[in-house]
Amino acid sequence: MKVTRVLGATAMLLGLAASAQTVRAQAATSAWTTSIPSGKGEPRGYVQYQEYCAVCHGAGVGKPGTIALAAKYKGTKPALLSERTDLTPQLVKLYVRNGITVMPFFRKTEISDADLDAIAAYLTRNNKKQ
Ligand code: HEC
Repeated sequence: MKVTRVLGATAMLLGLAASAQTVRAQAATSAWTTSIPSGKGEPRGYVQYQEYCAVCHGAGVGKPGTIALAAKYKGTKPALLSERTDLTPQLVKLYVRNGITVMPFFRKTEISDADLDAIAAYLTRNNKKQ
């Protein structure tokens, strides 16, 4: 009985891990099919954002991050993180290293400090107050 339950839980966790891998693999693929902006902006941060964040925070249907932020701010702020003008690097890093609700935290072995700096620079490029 106990063994079955443990096996069941393990299978479920493996399933979750597998689907997370699939999502990341898809996100990684889309990074190469999306054109990288030239000149303005932070290309490295943009590419990393596409790889790790856009799967949940991108535009289009079924993006949990975009849906959650639309519900949270009810139109007072853009639901798309990449369109925000109020984000600070500190805030972006806090959420990425700690996670929130269904957003996982990312370890330094997944997103290095340098890559997180680039993502933060990309997401705060429109914040004129910092
Ligand atoms: C599995 C989906 C998922 C992934 C991947 C994800 N997020 Fe999130 N993120 C969310 C959700 C959902 C929320 C809203 C949580 C809430 O407040 O209920 C959120 C919230 C945030 C917030 C807070 C915004 C605010 O104003 O409250 C920031 C900043 C953020 N995410 C940045 C990122 C960055 C940067 C990445 C990539 C490194 C990322 N997220 C990857 C799902 C995700």
